[in-house]
Amino acid sequence: MNGEQFREYGHQVVDWIADYLDHTRDYPVLSQQKPGELVDRLPLVAPEKGESMDLILDDFRKLIVPGITHWNHPRFFAYFSISASAPGILAEMLCAALNVNGMLWKSSPAATELEQVTLSWLRQWIGLPDEFFGIIYDTASISTMHAIAAAREMADPDIRRRGGTGRLVLYTSEHAHSSVEKGALALGIGQENVRKIGVDAEFRMNPAALQSAVENDKAAGKKPFCVVATVGTTSTSSVDPVPAIADIAEATGMWLHVDGAYGGSAMVVPEYRHYFEAVNRAHSVVVNPHKWLFTPIDVSVLYTREPEILKRAFSLVPEYLKTAEDPRALNYMDYGVQLGRRFRSLKLWFVFRYFGHEGVAHLIRNHVQWAGKLANMIRADPDYEVVAPTPFSLICFRHRASDQHNRDLLEKLNKSGKAFLSHTVLNGRYVLRLAIGNIATTWEDLEETWQLIQVLGKTT
Ligand SMILES: Cc1ncc(COP(=O)(O)O)c(C=O)c1O
Repeated sequence: MNGEQFREYGHQVVDWIADYLDHTRDYPVLSQQKPGELVDRLPLVAPEKGESMDLILDDFRKLIVPGITHWNHPRFFAYFSISASAPGILAEMLCAALNVNGMLWKSSPAATELEQVTLSWLRQWIGLPDEFFGIIYDTASISTMHAIAAAREMADPDIRRRGGTGRLVLYTSEHAHSSVEKGALALGIGQENVRKIGVDAEFRMNPAALQSAVENDKAAGKKPFCVVATVGTTSTSSVDPVPAIADIAEATGMWLHVDGAYGGSAMVVPEYRHYFEAVNRAHSVVVNPHKWLFTPIDVSVLYTREPEILKRAFSLVPEYLKTAEDPRALNYMDYGVQLGRRFRSLKLWFVFRYFGHEGVAHLIRNHVQWAGKLANMIRADPDYEVVAPTPFSLICFRHRASDQHNRDLLEKLNKSGKAFLSHTVLNGRYVLRLAIGNIATTWEDLEETWQLIQVLGKTT
């Protein structure tokens, strides 16, 4: 494709994106396709001869778009709603065009240095001390896995050479994200060595139960090595008591990792910092800009006070990757499993500069305030109950009728294409989750979605 053709198709693509972003509302939020529908419509083998861009773009519109669930839709309230803001999309385009691999400083100095700078900016916005080193991975699951690997290295440095002995034990709450257990699985800690500590009535880890689990394990000859607290759990956005957990971690010599994949973004707003007390005592913290900082997926940030331990866990430099030592030339490949690294910091740079601290804080503040207001409206309807506190932008609620009624209500709502919510189970009951996080969501979207839920709740 020559430059002229690229320009022509590039303009077509940009026009399509601009129209799409202006009219995302016109699409059903949840794809209406059936499983296998796209597979059945596509050829079984790849084309032998190249095809025209016109045809490819046409098929993108006709075949791919109908199979899309629109995370960009202002009424996408499922899981943790995310946003691809326009400056982030523009940066993604440039990132693909530059196509650099930021494995070493030398392999693209700007990729490495922009990562250092943007992560230092974000660190200041969320109020973490200067000593925290930042690194970008693709997802929180991978950030957390690396944190657990560093914890393992701190507890048993010989494990790198010898492999595991099955003695190390990891603690987290029964409301922690499944990525914590998956990280332990991947690192050979073993599911049997993951303790899921019970929670209180507000779904927060019970520190007394953590303390006794640690003591039991020590008495049994095990070695407690890592505790993962969550600030903003997946099911309810509850905040574990980090100060008490940090006390136990410090007294036991365990690595404390804080999962702020979703909630951590709220640290950008000074008046919500009280939810994050003692997070600065953690050895590592994960925050996902791709969840609630208006940056297109994927970008997850791990901060750690112990970069040397993280490096020790992973550094392995074959001859062909050796470069001259320079204290200012950071080689991010030393701090993780992957070698190749996308230029993800470019989109953080675009997003942070475009919105500024004030703009990002304003968006998050709106979402949190709207969640509080909507939770009050739900509470005011005698047919519904709000079943968990709403510290951030997630509301957990249910119709007071049966679980089946709630299930049917959710299915009808999602099938309507007008809004998309997800569910969880709390204290054995089926619960609807409405998460606000999309940049285009307005208060009217929330009001109208609630009215629709009320109508469907009556007719279900
Ligand atoms: C609290 C929490 N941690 C971790 C994750 C995993 O995030 P990722 O998809 O970036 O791996 C999620 C996903 O929703 C989450 O809610």
